[in-house]
Amino acid sequence: MSERTFVMVKPDGVGRRLIGECIRRFERRGLKLVGMKMQIISQKLAESHYEEHRARPFFPHLVQFITSGPTVQMVWEGKDAVAQVRKMNGATNSLEAAVGTIRGDFGLSLQNNMIHASDSIETAKREIALYFDQNELLEYAMPDAHWLS
Ligand code: CMP
Repeated sequence: MSERTFVMVKPDGVGRRLIGECIRRFERRGLKLVGMKMQIISQKLAESHYEEHRARPFFPHLVQFITSGPTVQMVWEGKDAVAQVRKMNGATNSLEAAVGTIRGDFGLSLQNNMIHASDSIETAKREIALYFDQNELLEYAMPDAHWLS
């Protein structure tokens, strides 16, 4: 079933010039980009985004890291998009991420793992609403949609 997922290229992904690489992979897979923006996120937004990790010891460092530079927010749409993007990003710890995934191909760090993606459809809805207004998300048809169904 077609669904939407939220993806963010983190400050290390931007700093390592991997924005295009991430987009290329999701496009090539057959997913459709329906929203995109770039911003240095505020402390408040970072804390809301990572609310579930508030009690973890790494929370302050995580917020410091995610607000430390530019990030790119995207919404990707397609069949089973949430699970497929998670698979394409690889395990949270880049050292454990399979080769062929974004983290497994470009990283060695747990904290600096270059990219974030929603872990469920419910999380995706929450994260999309956190970063995008409804009118910033586009609805349009792709000519190859019938080959990807
Ligand atoms: P992300 O998928 O964005 O979700 C939460 C983030 O917290 C995760 O990627 C990592 O960047 C970071 N993270 C998760 N676990 C740890 C940890 N044990 N130590 C430091 N950072 C972590």
